[in-house]
Amino acid sequence: MMDDGGVNGQSAVMSAHPPFVRLDGARTTLVVDCRGDVPTVAHWGRRLAADTDLAALAALAQREAAPGAPSTTPPMGLSPLIGSGWPGRPGVSAHRSGRDWATWAQIARVTRTDGTLEIVSDGAAQGILMLHRMRLSGDVLTVSTTLTNTGETPLRVEACDAPALPVPAHLTHWLSFEGRWAGEFQTRRIERGIGAIARENRRGRTSHDAFPLLLAEETGSETAGEALGFHLAWSGNHRMWAETLNDARGYAMFGALFLPGELTLAPGASYTSPDLVVAWSDAGRSGIARAFQAHVRARPQHDRLRARPRPVHYNSWEAVYFDHSPDRLMALADAAANIGVERFVLDDGWMTGRRSDRVGLGDWTVDRGVYPKGLHPLIERVRGQGMEFGLWVEPEMCTPDSEVARAHPDWILACPPAPQLDFRHQFVLDFSRAEVRDHVWRQLAALLDEYPIAYLKWDMNRDLSHAGGADGRAAAVAHVEGVYALLDRLREHYPAVEVETCASGGGRADLGMLARTDRVWASDTNDALDRLTVQRGLSTLLPPELVGSHVGPATCHITGRHLSMRLRVATAIFGHFGVEADLTAMSDADRAQLAAGIALHKRHRDLIHSGALYRLDRPAGEIAFGIVAATARTGLFSLTQITAPVASFATPLRLAGLDPAATYRVTPVWPAGEALTATGELLMHIGVQPPRLQPQHAIIWTVEATRGS
Ligand code: DGJ
Repeated sequence: MMDDGGVNGQSAVMSAHPPFVRLDGARTTLVVDCRGDVPTVAHWGRRLAADTDLAALAALAQREAAPGAPSTTPPMGLSPLIGSGWPGRPGVSAHRSGRDWATWAQIARVTRTDGTLEIVSDGAAQGILMLHRMRLSGDVLTVSTTLTNTGETPLRVEACDAPALPVPAHLTHWLSFEGRWAGEFQTRRIERGIGAIARENRRGRTSHDAFPLLLAEETGSETAGEALGFHLAWSGNHRMWAETLNDARGYAMFGALFLPGELTLAPGASYTSPDLVVAWSDAGRSGIARAFQAHVRARPQHDRLRARPRPVHYNSWEAVYFDHSPDRLMALADAAANIGVERFVLDDGWMTGRRSDRVGLGDWTVDRGVYPKGLHPLIERVRGQGMEFGLWVEPEMCTPDSEVARAHPDWILACPPAPQLDFRHQFVLDFSRAEVRDHVWRQLAALLDEYPIAYLKWDMNRDLSHAGGADGRAAAVAHVEGVYALLDRLREHYPAVEVETCASGGGRADLGMLARTDRVWASDTNDALDRLTVQRGLSTLLPPELVGSHVGPATCHITGRHLSMRLRVATAIFGHFGVEADLTAMSDADRAQLAAGIALHKRHRDLIHSGALYRLDRPAGEIAFGIVAATARTGLFSLTQITAPVASFATPLRLAGLDPAATYRVTPVWPAGEALTATGELLMHIGVQPPRLQPQHAIIWTVEATRGS
């Protein structure tokens, strides 16, 4: 419905702006109320009827004056402003040497192009201009704030968050995503009460402990209830703020976090917040996962991933660590090719002197002592076996005894006289500086020019604890922007090279990084049971074709747990499959089962890498989910029994995402078993009786429509 006098599909600038503007997604509607001085969100969520009276919608929110409160409620603007009397967190905090701090701006211009809304607010008296950009595609809203200094003196910016979005009261809980190294994306449910929950990330990278994803939810179910999901597409310091005011209004607001003095805008300069990406669903947590995953898959850069099957990886890390030898790696390459691997990735340890994590970062030359003829013989062997070759790099880092550290000590981020913090014996190069990026670029380009490298694993193994540039100023935000710039350059010059984002596992798995990379290393734990929860958490945002998932050694080097090959395959199969273990030390039986697992993955990877995810609610001690094709004709469901069930039998597994009227054949394929036939209605509402599984065992079923609509 047009409330703005605009024309669908064309840009419409509304100088005398309309009272309301509206965007509609597939099942969602955004309404922005532009009647007052500041733009406020009147509705974001379930799609409203085309003829909804938007004035009546806004009237529903009107309240009488409360005792002991202002007689008119200060508006929650897209950037809530101090000058409006807003009692919560301001969306923009800025000042000029302590003046012009009570930010205030009024709507000056409203522009709507199909699917995108831009609202400019002018704070001429304080020399600020704000642009709020809101784009709705599918059921995902992407919003950002641009702040421009229109004054004549520098503007010191303490915060410029992406727009605040309301969180209705019936979403009674928050769900946060947090964790640690080798235990990322764990969820925690928090009851909403008056006050804020805030997560600040000061690690300089996206972090293991404060992943910028938060849900507000009605039920906590995977399949039912309304929910909102908020993700900040940013790979550095950030703040997530979710608050319920004592006047009962709730909102979530995310933005980059600036270190002291980090952002000063010169006259005329602008800063744009990272995108806040927001999904709505009325089908529980998995509904949010499907909305985000569909959004990620709709990105133009996803086309090239879709264009061919995602190749099965072999990664050398857990087989050899730093103990490289061409003969051993060639033997591993042969063994990998024999079981169906399609891409061989040489992990850390190939560089000059890199026999441990204490040396060898920063110069990016092949260790001629280990590889006398460079990497050519190994790569030829890999390619001769029909596999692609991939290489591990950690471009932002240097160890102290590297050429780069000796020649350019001022390129290292530091905060003298405070001592550096030892962190894996390495320092961070200041990527905010063009000459540093150029230096690293030349080295990466030399490798990519000399060798046929199809894939780079871009690792990043320490926090930016001392993110000071040589000029003495904080450079954490600018470092991340520099990383983006170098990745963009890489993409432009080597468009065929795929890049994986890794930061001690899943420390940098956000959509800012994924705008320029093709895969995430979700976690350093290859323990199949721990991986199930890591992958479940991350699946709230990312589809499985982007999530590296490897079969590791029988005994996990991190947890010490010994798990069967069958279980390790059953977990890894639902991602971008890989193997990361010493194949030459594996029993014949395990190797054969792994080959069968790879074959199973290849048979179903088109479905796994394109279908819709339905995580299922199960009793504690079990994890179950399914992936169903868009046609609802085929699906793959998995159940893992982590601990023994309380009763003698597991409860029926109610499938989801099927056509109730169609008849399906449900066949256990891992391990193989007897098929059964039932309608989608019965499978979803009554459920399948799982076999009795011992703890640490899994079962995978295929579901195929044999008849029906
Ligand atoms: C951390 C990564 O997460 C691992 O997969 C591996 O690449 C090591 N770094 C190598 O140093």
